Amino acid sequence: MGNLVNRAFRLRRRPEGDLRPGDLELVSEPVPELRDGQALVRTLLLSLDPTNRIWMSDMRGYMPAVPLGEVMRGLGIGQVVDSRREDLPKGTLVMGWTGWQELCLADDALLESPFTPLPDPLPAPLPAFVGALGHTGITGWLGVELFGRVGAGDTVVVSAAGGAVGSVAGQVAKTRGARVVGVAGGADKCRHVVEDLGFDACVDRLASDWRDQLDAATPDGIDVDFENVGGEIMDHVLMRLNVGARIVLCGMISQYNAMGGDREWLGQQAIGQLIMQRATMSGFLVLDHADRFEEAIAELAGLLAEGRLHYDETIVDGFERAPDALARLFDGDKVGKLVVRVADPVTPPAAAAAGAAPA
Ligand SMILES: NC(=O)c1ccc[n+]([C@@H]2O[C@H](COP(=O)([O-])OP(=O)(O)OC[C@H]3O[C@@H](n4cnc5c(N)ncnc54)[C@H](OP(=O)(O)O)[C@@H]3O)[C@@H](O)[C@H]2O)c1
Repeated sequence: MGNLVNRAFRLRRRPEGDLRPGDLELVSEPVPELRDGQALVRTLLLSLDPTNRIWMSDMRGYMPAVPLGEVMRGLGIGQVVDSRREDLPKGTLVMGWTGWQELCLADDALLESPFTPLPDPLPAPLPAFVGALGHTGITGWLGVELFGRVGAGDTVVVSAAGGAVGSVAGQVAKTRGARVVGVAGGADKCRHVVEDLGFDACVDRLASDWRDQLDAATPDGIDVDFENVGGEIMDHVLMRLNVGARIVLCGMISQYNAMGGDREWLGQQAIGQLIMQRATMSGFLVLDHADRFEEAIAELAGLLAEGRLHYDETIVDGFERAPDALARLFDGDKVGKLVVRVADPVTPPAAAAAGAAPA
């Protein structure tokens, strides 16, 4: 495979506020000859995740910040295009730490964790393995099952309800017999959350009366808050908690761009409600719960096969568009899981033909 060139985004500067041109640099670099124990993986789909923004900052996080000058960290789906490893034969479709690059050397020393081969044949279109059947779907399942302990009769509020995690969390909560109220940005997205995803109600966070909408949608208070956003929406939810409520602290996306720069976050104002309502709040990370992945994927795949789990993707074509596309997580200009299509598989898997429309 001599003379191959890799294109990669390297982190040049820690972003202040929104990601800006120059924070990441697109570079072209030669790919070294493969050695024994290495495989070359071509990135097909790059998963865009809110945590990408966290990894760029030097806040105290759950993983070290991406060092300046390094290839941006990222999860993706790839295909082995050359191999000197028995566990990753040429043609294998894999999920793992591709990084923000078109070609990745899979090597025990270089990888943060090994690539996982995808099932063959694929039970769902390829993008689902970074969405409903991948880390974001599993996050939604874990939050409902392990930390929310959602049961029949509970009122559950899910913020970022039309997104990758929230859409799955709300639908899994429905299967447990809960009343599920979403929070999403805009009337169209709210309609989608109710009509397509089957939530009982959805609050438009961009409407001036969103507090009244939330009050009206939760007349019996709130038993579980599946929190993806933080900030003033979370504060209003906290003010409506029932005694013994569970707050599943999955994410705080409203704060991620406030890391670095001159923006300052003042913190949750209504946190004292945890005392008044004897409520519990559990932060969790999907990466800590690999022992539950099989169970999560089995239930999510079952719901999918029965037509009881609806999921969407917004697919952006072109590797070079990844930094611009990341902004769509923060302005909400997308539905479901946000993915960048970098390349097509060499032999397209049968199920992948039915993927989402390009954005
Ligand atoms: N704990 C874990 O292991 C884990 C794993 C994966 C993800 N997460 C977290 O889960 C959350 C959702 O992640 P995702 O990948 O599924 O993203 P996503 O929900 O698909 O996309 C983010 C959505 O957040 C909403 N949003 C963005 N900025 C906001 C703001 N300032 N105020 C209110 N809403 C805002 C937007 O939706 P609307 O415009 O429709 O409101 C946007 O579409 C994130 O906080 C992420 O960090 C946690």
